[in-house]
Amino acid sequence: MFHSLDIVIQYVASPFHLLYFITPKWIRRLVGPPRKPARAAKTARAFAREEVRNHKKNMSPGDPQDFTDFYLNQIVQSTGDPAATYDEHNLVKSMLDLFGAGIDTTAITLYWALLYMAAYPHIQATVQKELDDVLGPSPVICYDDRKRLPYTHAVVHEVLRYSSIFSTTFRRCTKDTVIQGFPIKKGTTIAAILYSSLFDPEQWKTPHQFNPNHFLDEDGNFVSKEAFVPFSAGHRVCVGEQIARIELFIVLSSLLQEFTFRAPEGVKEMNMKRQSKSFIVRPQPYTICAIPRSATGKEGPW
Ligand code: HEM
Repeated sequence: MFHSLDIVIQYVASPFHLLYFITPKWIRRLVGPPRKPARAAKTARAFAREEVRNHKKNMSPGDPQDFTDFYLNQIVQSTGDPAATYDEHNLVKSMLDLFGAGIDTTAITLYWALLYMAAYPHIQATVQKELDDVLGPSPVICYDDRKRLPYTHAVVHEVLRYSSIFSTTFRRCTKDTVIQGFPIKKGTTIAAILYSSLFDPEQWKTPHQFNPNHFLDEDGNFVSKEAFVPFSAGHRVCVGEQIARIELFIVLSSLLQEFTFRAPEGVKEMNMKRQSKSFIVRPQPYTICAIPRSATGKEGPW
């Protein structure tokens, strides 16, 4: 399913899809319908349907174990309600939405995080010191630990801000309106440039520098910022924001407990250029060394 979704996402994120979206007739006439992504989408749907079947066979209704179980329970509970939208078709769609929107985004943010750690060794060392000082020999990190790890928490936020993997989201105006004096007609598509908020010089002290202090007060306490919008805002804000924050915090801290990341021998500077061929901004492919901290004499607690 990951492989199939990857094909679909690469296609959806490509300029070709945008062109197809705008002039489907012309593109179909010139190069035919996009067969490869259509086949991949079919495979992903078949996989999700198979999962639904397995869940139905194996679940115990009083003990739901995951999203699919909860959704199946909801279908049963809302039977007979004409306004209910819960059905298996929507369940499959939701599963694909969650996997499709949830894998690459978090993985790409982690690629950026490791790149920044190798590029800014003093920041990486400060995170590792905080992890060692606060957690000691504790082998397990949980999300609640962020309250005791303000610097690490700030680094995760700065990774999300500085990598800004989604620079733009789109909305269609549902009625004629006026925004800051500009008349906007119903049906107009509006591009919300998240980047302009994440790099606003009036909101951030050094917007174009990787600086975890953006999220710390003078006493080193974590502070959240209104201009921090990597997950967008409003009703259609990223539905996976919370799980993404949890994943990023736990995975990055766990990796830094155990490893130090650095550029390979002979590489003086990591390439920080952004790949702009898709709407999710990735770093250029890179090679990095993960040195077990035990090998450097700074043993992690594991
Ligand atoms: C670093 C990780 C992530 C980032 C930066 C991110 C960012 C975003 C952004 C900017 C949007 C567009 C919101 C809008 O249109 O205003 C979005 C939508 C969405 N995201 Fe995420 N996301 C991340 C992780 C995840 C994860 C882990 C999941 C699922 C488990 C997820 C599921 C979704 C879904 C389903 C939507 C569509 C929401 C809707 O249209 O109502 N995302 N995300």
